[in-house]
Amino acid sequence: MAKILITGIAGLLGSHFSRYLLAKGYKVTGIDDFSGGYKENLPDGVFCSTLNLADFDAVDNFFNEERFDYVYHFAAYAAEGLSPFIRTFNYTNNVIASANLITASINYGVKKFIFTSSNGVYGEDNLPPFNENMIPKPIDPYGIAKYAVEMDLKNARSQFGLNYSIIRPHNVIGIYQNIWDKYRNVVGIWIRQTLHNEPLTVYGDGLQKRAFSDMVYYNEPFEQLMTEFNGEIFNLGADKEITLIDCAKLVQKCASNFGFKPEIIHLEPRVEAKYAYADHTKAKKLLGFEDKTDLEKTINEMFSWAIKQPDRRVKTMKYETIKNLYSYWKQ
Ligand SMILES: NC(=O)c1ccc[n+]([C@@H]2O[C@H](COP(=O)([O-])OP(=O)(O)OC[C@H]3O[C@@H](n4cnc5c(N)ncnc54)[C@H](O)[C@@H]3O)[C@@H](O)[C@H]2O)c1
Repeated sequence: MAKILITGIAGLLGSHFSRYLLAKGYKVTGIDDFSGGYKENLPDGVFCSTLNLADFDAVDNFFNEERFDYVYHFAAYAAEGLSPFIRTFNYTNNVIASANLITASINYGVKKFIFTSSNGVYGEDNLPPFNENMIPKPIDPYGIAKYAVEMDLKNARSQFGLNYSIIRPHNVIGIYQNIWDKYRNVVGIWIRQTLHNEPLTVYGDGLQKRAFSDMVYYNEPFEQLMTEFNGEIFNLGADKEITLIDCAKLVQKCASNFGFKPEIIHLEPRVEAKYAYADHTKAKKLLGFEDKTDLEKTINEMFSWAIKQPDRRVKTMKYETIKNLYSYWKQ
């Protein structure tokens, strides 16, 4: 039976997709260093090697022992706004770690490598809705890291015949999302703030537009990419965009179902794309992708799940520079 590796298996995408594959009878193994995901997110009975993908030898040894057929590379630290302040960590964790995995996939005969890049590669010069034919112009180290890995995969295919697919997701939400990280996952941050009886914080005027999608709609196209298409890039996500202020109001509405009444406060704006949403025509046409996200329903599900989780310590990162760091991240 084919052996499938999922990196970042304890994170949002990994925990959902591993459950989906296991339910369909696939043999799944995980890698995670639990820097951003939690053991409680792992599906029952799955083997997860606790290793840091930035460690070349550890990755090489694991591949030598396990001989995977397919690799889903989800592991990353996806804190786009923070990435200029943790530049070296960002490139180590998101580029070097990916390079180690790509080399091992070349050396140990992986049949297909599926990589989650990001909408962050499109940058500011490209106007949304972003489509896959636009030339990426990332504006921050996170987007640059994702684009570097995309280009590295292109080289690995042309020089070593490694098959790959690239997915560019955006604003995926759902249960198992890390809500204890103050630098990323805006809906998760608002849920955690609600549960801590804190106000919901909005950067700037809140008129930034994003399109949030429920993770459950990603599983089928992810599976399809295991064996279909080679060297192709697909945007995946919701078509329907919403301003962040309207989304915060929706979180307020859902919070009231659980007995909370958080207020909304505005903080200093940060460097980020004002409008970031994508065109999914290609995925709809070639993968039959259909996003049916009901945002209110998903947020309510996340609340129901979040109130049952341990009250974890909020994550803080070691900054590599504090120049121009936003006031709210200095605390
Ligand atoms: N969630 C989104 O909205 C979104 C949007 C665009 C792209 N993506 C990409 O999709 C992928 C998965 O995202 P997610 O939301 O599930 O993130 P997540 O943070 O929930 O999961 C990532 C997992 O990777 C693990 N990890 C991180 N660095 C590691 C390392 N060096 N070695 C081993 N494990 C490591 C973390 O512990 C975590 O469990 C990421 O590559 C992310 O960049 C996600």
